Amino acid sequence: MFAKIMIPVVLFSCLLFTPLQSEARINDRPIIGVLAQEVRYPTPDRTAYIAASYVKYLESAGARVVPVMINQTVEEYKTLFNSINGILYPGGGVSIIASGYQRAAQIFYDLAIEANKRGDYFPVWGTCLGFEQLAYLTSKKSVLSPTNTTGVALPLNFTNETKDSRIFKDFPPELMDDLSTQPLTENSHKWSVAVETLNTDEELKNFYKVLSTNTDGNIEFISTMEAYDYPIYGTQWHPEKNAFEWNKSYYPHSRSAVRTTFFMAEFFVNEARKNFHAFETQEGERDALIYNYSPVYTGAMSTFEQIYYF
Ligand SMILES: *[C@@H]1O[C@H](CO)[C@@H](O)[C@H](O)[C@H]1NC(C)=O
Ligand SMILES: *[C@@H]1O[C@H](CO)[C@@H](O)[C@H](O)[C@H]1NC(C)=O
Ligand SMILES: *[C@@H]1O[C@H](CO)[C@@H](O)[C@H](O)[C@H]1NC(C)=O
Ligand SMILES: *[C@@H]1O[C@H](CO)[C@@H](O)[C@H](O)[C@H]1NC(C)=O
Ligand SMILES: *[C@@H]1O[C@H](CO)[C@@H](O)[C@H](O)[C@H]1NC(C)=O
Repeated sequence: MFAKIMIPVVLFSCLLFTPLQSEARINDRPIIGVLAQEVRYPTPDRTAYIAASYVKYLESAGARVVPVMINQTVEEYKTLFNSINGILYPGGGVSIIASGYQRAAQIFYDLAIEANKRGDYFPVWGTCLGFEQLAYLTSKKSVLSPTNTTGVALPLNFTNETKDSRIFKDFPPELMDDLSTQPLTENSHKWSVAVETLNTDEELKNFYKVLSTNTDGNIEFISTMEAYDYPIYGTQWHPEKNAFEWNKSYYPHSRSAVRTTFFMAEFFVNEARKNFHAFETQEGERDALIYNYSPVYTGAMSTFEQIYYF
């Protein structure tokens, strides 16, 4: 008797409340993929790498990390996509037109666009090379201009769109002041997306809201952007370096610089909490986590303090 009454009630309430509940539901155990890339001089046991600063960056805000290896099959990538809650494309030095990094970035970008269209919220972040990769994936053409920005910390020149942005909405006002007046954002790139290029590229202009710009003295370029209709984000600068990299004198380490690292990480990890992909088994999850690998101390031979090699 009890069961007979309950079943229709349960069915009815599911139909009624599922959409609302799914918006309010939160995944407090987010797992974020970080894309690996080719090393410049491969050896048999070191063909690809991830700088550990990107891993620490996400971990510091409450995520666990899974390395996304290059050269996997599309099927393997699809399975991984359905197991993780977001992906980060790090900086680095490989081709954004033809490399293992580019191929994986393209596959996950396409999967993310498709998923988000059907209401499966999947965030994507690009830093430096990852930012350039996103611009290329969206515009489907070369949109970079050479700039004199290979080692310089800059204050952000915020646009009028910043206050309504998702990224900066919850930043403390005093940190926003510091970001706009002090050189807290580190730039290590030879190429940039010029503001003029975005303004004349329909694809890019309709897809990304520009949140900050910078200049090398000649070319005004985009330093922070977020997609209008997708949880897709890019910074040409390096939020992770302030707290975790020490090799260069121009890496900012002031209190506001380090808070910038954590507020950026906190934003993206919180985006990943809105996704509910999961590994099929706990064992599969354990085997995929970056905890299975140990970073190597590389401070004396590279600009990264620690690197995961694969
Ligand atoms: C990826 O595949 C390319 C082309 O087959 C190969 O040259 C490269 O060594 C592979 N890299 C890794 C890390 O597997
Ligand atoms: C590049 O910028 C630096 C300052 O960041 C400046 O010292 C240098 O002269 C510039 N180089 C060129 C070629 O403009
Ligand atoms: C900041 O951006 C505005 C609008 O794009 C531009 O006119 C201005 O020159 C920029 N200022 C600096 C310091 O880059
Ligand atoms: C930003 O807003 C200010 C004040 O409303 C306006 O004067 C300025 O032209 C705007 N800048 C841009 C780049 O739209
Ligand atoms: C920075 O890295 C270089 C190698 O790229 C190394 O020679 C140098 O000692 C490092 N400097 C610091 C301050 O760690």
